[in-house]
Amino acid sequence: MLEAASPLRQRGSVLMKRINQIEPWLGDEEKQELASVIESGWFTEAQKTREFERFFAEYVGSEYAIAVNHGTVSLTIACMALDIGPGDEVIIPDFTMIASPNAVRLAGATPVMVDISRKTLCIDIAAAEAAITPRTKAIMPVLLNGRHPDMGTLKVLARKHGLSLVEDAAQALGSRSTGKHLGVFGEIGSFSFSTPKIITTGQGGMLVTHDAGLYEKMMKLKDFGRRQKGEDIHIMMGYNFKFTEFQAAVGMAQMRKLDWRVQRKKDMFRLYRVLLDGIPRVTFMETDLDDTSPWFVDVLVEGEARDALMEHLKERGIGTRPFYPPIHAQAPYAHIKGHFPICDSVCGQGLWLPSSSFLSDDDIARVCDEIKCFFR
Ligand SMILES: Cc1ncc(COP(=O)(O)O)c(C=O)c1O
Repeated sequence: MLEAASPLRQRGSVLMKRINQIEPWLGDEEKQELASVIESGWFTEAQKTREFERFFAEYVGSEYAIAVNHGTVSLTIACMALDIGPGDEVIIPDFTMIASPNAVRLAGATPVMVDISRKTLCIDIAAAEAAITPRTKAIMPVLLNGRHPDMGTLKVLARKHGLSLVEDAAQALGSRSTGKHLGVFGEIGSFSFSTPKIITTGQGGMLVTHDAGLYEKMMKLKDFGRRQKGEDIHIMMGYNFKFTEFQAAVGMAQMRKLDWRVQRKKDMFRLYRVLLDGIPRVTFMETDLDDTSPWFVDVLVEGEARDALMEHLKERGIGTRPFYPPIHAQAPYAHIKGHFPICDSVCGQGLWLPSSSFLSDDDIARVCDEIKCFFR
């Protein structure tokens, strides 16, 4: 259970509300939706899941959407649907949650890590091009924190080399590039509804595609390769990656709140930027808030100060989270050779500040006051 359950904390004589780095936010609407599923008497994915998939496809502007049990297996399903497996390579940025390369490994293929761009914190397109080999089957840009590389250039590069584009949009729900929702530029896009995301179904993932053939294949991959729902004739290899009606119920209620949250995340980012202006050792990424909805408010803290700042905030009841270490620095990928200077530098400085959608402006002001206090 998240620490939200104990909101008050004693500090000196003042009762301080604990501010976690991120918390989910569910309410009566989710309870009512869940009750309707319990009363329906059927819980494995069915009508409510189809409704959620349609709603989602419409929201992101995709032809099809397929709900699956999480945003890691969704990337594995994407690889399987594109016949990516043993002997094949997928190019991935070195700065991502470990799920991205792990999902490729689960499909039997090899993730090839490349450095990121300092401007977007997303894949460096020139580095991706340099990493293409005869074994490369796909590029997997990770749309980290709602930001994106130049999607047009990436698409042209993929086309030129006959590669698929699988977008890891786990952190990009509500974010766009020149007005078009992220996740719909390539063959397949993948989203996550894990508990910290902008909306959650506890666990959950969504695949989107414009391609009817890929849609049919992914629907079968997640349901034991069944020819049709409700019958036990299996026409291809498939697994159980299905959703539940409970998740779809929560997802529907959460989707109705998404537009408000997208705006709130943008407003929160702006407020942090204003309040922390003038602290020379804290810098914000250049962020186009027309398109980008930063799921987490992220800053770079220069020098060795980041970990001490985290400790200072922790002692004052404020949670933060350091950026993921580079993938090549994680134990399962220690064998990876390469040169990732931007990733190495950014990952050592990056900090995610409290970003729950329900934080008030006063909460944010308190976090910023404590940061200023640390640097004084
Ligand atoms: C970039 C990225 N990809 C994939 C995932 C995996 O999603 P899930 O936790 O739903 O499996 C995450 C989850 O945080 C993520 O941030």
